[in-house]
Amino acid sequence: MSKVSMGELLRDASKRGYAVPCFNAINLDMVRGIIQAAEEARSPVILCHAEIHFKYTPLAQIAPIMVEAMNKAKVPVSILLDHGKSFSAVTQAMHMGFNAIMFDGSEYEYEENVRRTAEIVKIARTLDVSVEGELGYVTRPKSGGAEGDDDDSIIDDTTLYTDPDQAREFVERTGIDALAAAFGTVHGVYLKKPQLDLERLGEINRKAGVPIVMHGGSGLSDDDFQRSIDQGVAKINYYTGMALKVMDRARERFAQSEEKMFYHEFMMNVIGDLQEDAQGIMHTFRSSGKA
Ligand code: 13P
Repeated sequence: MSKVSMGELLRDASKRGYAVPCFNAINLDMVRGIIQAAEEARSPVILCHAEIHFKYTPLAQIAPIMVEAMNKAKVPVSILLDHGKSFSAVTQAMHMGFNAIMFDGSEYEYEENVRRTAEIVKIARTLDVSVEGELGYVTRPKSGGAEGDDDDSIIDDTTLYTDPDQAREFVERTGIDALAAAFGTVHGVYLKKPQLDLERLGEINRKAGVPIVMHGGSGLSDDDFQRSIDQGVAKINYYTGMALKVMDRARERFAQSEEKMFYHEFMMNVIGDLQEDAQGIMHTFRSSGKA
């Protein structure tokens, strides 16, 4: 199956009532664990690399690994530049074989977000690359551990949420394939119990005319996920939960082991832990068995 356009993946998810999981994979082990999970669960999947993670793994090093994983996978896969903010990151990712770009213009004023996103879409069209845009602002609080520098107090600022009527205009004027919407989710660890505005989400979905993307997928309840998918979310971005879970497992292993441990053994255990977490997510997002 291997490479499939993100637009196509998300249209199928919208039609069949599930969400495609999109995992930030910052190294080879994560790519392997996630692809193993997708093949085992028969789930479509999106692997992504965020511009804020380039400091851990340069794009030029991870891109060939992701492209190879996508081309060889036995299930449908897309690879996405996550939260592309600079023109150079976006064009380099396209050049290196990413078939999807999330251009994040959410920090700009509306008109500037429209202008920049539309420009990226124009280039992407010529290369058969799908584009996700963001309208409204999904916060990234300083204390949430997701590289954010937003003040912690803005996490429930509803003025940052996506306006459904503006969403329709944004999609029409930019030509994006998917829309990241703000309706109460937060990047990183939730500092307060999440309160999702599902009514707004449903209205955004009805008006936007393209599949809706949820960012900040770590820390929500299964019920939050199910109801968001029922209201039109077709792609969910998830990272923090996996990054924490795999370290908890490593801590347990170290505590239990009295013998020496080789790095390669540790590495294989980590890949297994990553796979287990990803498979659980695929089940929750109802993408298992959809490939
Ligand atoms: P979390 O790290 O909160 O799961 O969010 C991931 C995300 O939205 C990446 O774009």
